Amino acid sequence: MEFNTFVGQLTTRKTECFVVAYGPKGLDCPDLQQIDQAMEGLIARLIKKGDIKYADGAMQLINEPKGLAAERLLIFSAGKEALNEQTCLNALSALAGQLTKLPIKSASISLDGFAVTGRERPWLAQQLARKLGEAAYLFNPFKSREKKPATLGKVSLVCPSRQGIGPVKQALLLGSAIANGVNRSRELGDLPGNICTPSYLSSHARELAGQYPNLDCKVLSEKQMEALGMGSLLSVTAGTQQPAKMIVLEYKGDKTRGKPIVLVGKGVTFDSGGISLKPGAGMDEMKYDMCGAASVLGTLSAIAEYKLPLNVTGIIPAVENMPSGTATRPGDVVTSMSGQTIEVLNTDAEGRLILCDALTYAGRYKPSFVIDIATLTGACVMALGSHASGLLSNDDALAQALESAGQTSGDRVWRLPLWNEYDKQLKSNFADLANIGGREAGTITAACFLGRFTKNYRWAHLDIAGTAWNSGTNKGATGRPVPLLVEFLAEQASQ
Ligand code: BES
Ligand code: MN
Ligand code: ZN
Repeated sequence: MEFNTFVGQLTTRKTECFVVAYGPKGLDCPDLQQIDQAMEGLIARLIKKGDIKYADGAMQLINEPKGLAAERLLIFSAGKEALNEQTCLNALSALAGQLTKLPIKSASISLDGFAVTGRERPWLAQQLARKLGEAAYLFNPFKSREKKPATLGKVSLVCPSRQGIGPVKQALLLGSAIANGVNRSRELGDLPGNICTPSYLSSHARELAGQYPNLDCKVLSEKQMEALGMGSLLSVTAGTQQPAKMIVLEYKGDKTRGKPIVLVGKGVTFDSGGISLKPGAGMDEMKYDMCGAASVLGTLSAIAEYKLPLNVTGIIPAVENMPSGTATRPGDVVTSMSGQTIEVLNTDAEGRLILCDALTYAGRYKPSFVIDIATLTGACVMALGSHASGLLSNDDALAQALESAGQTSGDRVWRLPLWNEYDKQLKSNFADLANIGGREAGTITAACFLGRFTKNYRWAHLDIAGTAWNSGTNKGATGRPVPLLVEFLAEQASQ
């Protein structure tokens, strides 16, 4: 989808659909007023009759509107009072859903009726571009009868003047890049485990790197991981025929900055639980256990597309977790790359076993800080549901920056503590630590496990078990937390 800005007379604007928001200012909004006058007071009459109203997602579509050059006029409720980020994003989603269903190729949109507390026009522009791009997502590869893709390809955002239009244009580009990253991440998540294997993820990463000169990819084989001493990661891949891969993507957006930010994404392409086999019901959803990896790929593609001036390295440990005669047993002791030994009490707590070696490996990049992203614990779904990702960190400033980016993007996080008392639950009688910490506080003890491997740098952990995909009739990947991560990185680049 292409985005640009438009400044000028609204009533003579030739477009297949003109969208105007009806918000707290009512008809006092200059854009709506201009249209109402050209239509000889029709808008005012429709408001009076109650056909145009304030309600979540309320819309009025008027075909061949008299007095306007536009083929259609869509009047869209932006709420009776000023919105917060979340309610505004919901409204923009509803608008994007409607626009991508109409048989139109182009639209011009005035958001002047919107009022969002504490946010200016560039923020609105970014979220509009993002929501329209996300609404165009279509997962089609396996249905014999193809669904029709959205026809909407060109969108103009109406601006009152040329003043301050530079940041609005940048915001449209960023929002569009985020949507493309989100959709890439969703597509990878939605692909089934028999297609999206560790090898598939590594070829995808190589192809992505091929599209950008400042994005490089290397892939470590099992042999190379063995030589590095990644006994913990390799213990997870012991039961499958699929070769494990460690994917490393280096984005160099600013040669003067040196130290990279490192993103580590859990890439379990299918998690059966291994010998500690999961129950059958809903097990198909464990194809989503690589959504951390997918979010790293989506984030890197977004910042490469936008040309963000920052250095970011993505590390993706990719494995399949299966039971077999060669699989790791409960009680087995393995040695991680850090030298710490681990008693594998449950082979279904495999995410931390691959992440710990990836986190040790991340130390080689002398990172300014490290963020790992993982569908790590069912306990996080119980604690936070699907509205916020879990955040745990050994650095308050980093945690606060992530919380703030979550608020800005609507892709929110909620912090949980990493106290020493929880860490004690990982005690093992036979190794340096156990890979599970008992029934209590499962999200925290999983993060404490990772914390044993992140002592040398500033680090944050995002548990996306509840946010990475939707279950039920709307089953599908969400692309979270790509919006959060790109927002966070964009804020870092601006400092
Ligand atoms: N991938 C799962 C976590 C998960 C489960 C995410 C359900 C989303 C929905 C992870 O590998 C896992 O199995 N974790 C176990 C840990 C336990 C054995 C300590 C869990 O959460 O049950
Ligand atoms: Mn598991
Ligand atoms: Zn898992």
